[in-house]
Amino acid sequence: MRVLVTGGSGFIGSAVCEELSKAGHDPVIVDKKIQPWFRAGPYSYYEMRVQDYTPEHPIDACIHMAASHVVSDSVKYPIDYYDNNINSLLRVIQLKPKKIVYSSSAAVYGLGSNFTEQSNTNPINPYGRSKLWGEQILKDSGIDHLSLRYFNAAGSGTNHGYVQEPRTHAIPILMDCAKNNKQFTVFGNGLKTRDGTCERDYTHVKDIAKAHVLALEYTGKHHVMNIGSGKGTTMKELIACVSNITNKSIQWKIGPKREYDPPSLVADISLVKKELKWNPEYTIKDIVSDAWCWEQTKY
Ligand code: UFG
Repeated sequence: MRVLVTGGSGFIGSAVCEELSKAGHDPVIVDKKIQPWFRAGPYSYYEMRVQDYTPEHPIDACIHMAASHVVSDSVKYPIDYYDNNINSLLRVIQLKPKKIVYSSSAAVYGLGSNFTEQSNTNPINPYGRSKLWGEQILKDSGIDHLSLRYFNAAGSGTNHGYVQEPRTHAIPILMDCAKNNKQFTVFGNGLKTRDGTCERDYTHVKDIAKAHVLALEYTGKHHVMNIGSGKGTTMKELIACVSNITNKSIQWKIGPKREYDPPSLVADISLVKKELKWNPEYTIKDIVSDAWCWEQTKY
């Protein structure tokens, strides 16, 4: 299949393009920023916003990943988030692909724990709202689609990984702390989790990528699926894991809780296991180990 991959040069997108190629598909990348590893590679790419893209050749399907995705920024610039995330999706719908696999997010849920696809959706930040509205727009479009609600993507591919600067995500920040002996700030304490710090479901980017190939081929009746590891890791557990794997002692302190941060985001992944026959292979140790490897070899 000729697959338009919007945001295909990003952290998750790069891993998705690699899996698509392995499975014999032909990814066409549209991204505002094309990373160097694609410039030398075999892919077709267009460095532009999705909103400005018109295909030169017909496309069969689209994996729509391009989005503004930093939760804290969405609180500062909500209208920019709605503008980019909704208008890029509308553009993809106008291109009329036969199928759309949509990057949704655990951020659609809000407060709670062990979320199934039937759990209430009450997002507590603009990013989560933009993703939930995207899911609804897709339903209204009538196009065959599957919305994948990612939990916290992390880890690294072999030849690609996290390159965002300044870093906004917990594991890349911890890698910087381990490498450069910096202090890490844990956002919040005394929350209703097993040790009082935020709990997240870190999911290896390679596992997430494989789910997209299965999603493209899926012909069942479900339109929303969680993509997580099904296991939660608290901030204190994550710091211990990073210390262990990097063999560095991480200095950390407790800082104020981010108000838009749900205390716990952990997926129930029964549905995706059953429907896509997808099983995450990698543990939190693999994730941290691969992120550390990327940190050392690629920077
Ligand atoms: N955290 C810290 N200190 C930091 C950075 C993060 O304690 O310096 C904590 C946060 O409070 C949170 C956890 O680490 O509990 C993870 O935070 P990230 O910023 O790495 O990720 P988020 O959970 O905020 O958001 C990510 C993606 C979203 C997605 C969400 C789904 O960026 O796009 O996961 O779970 F919606």
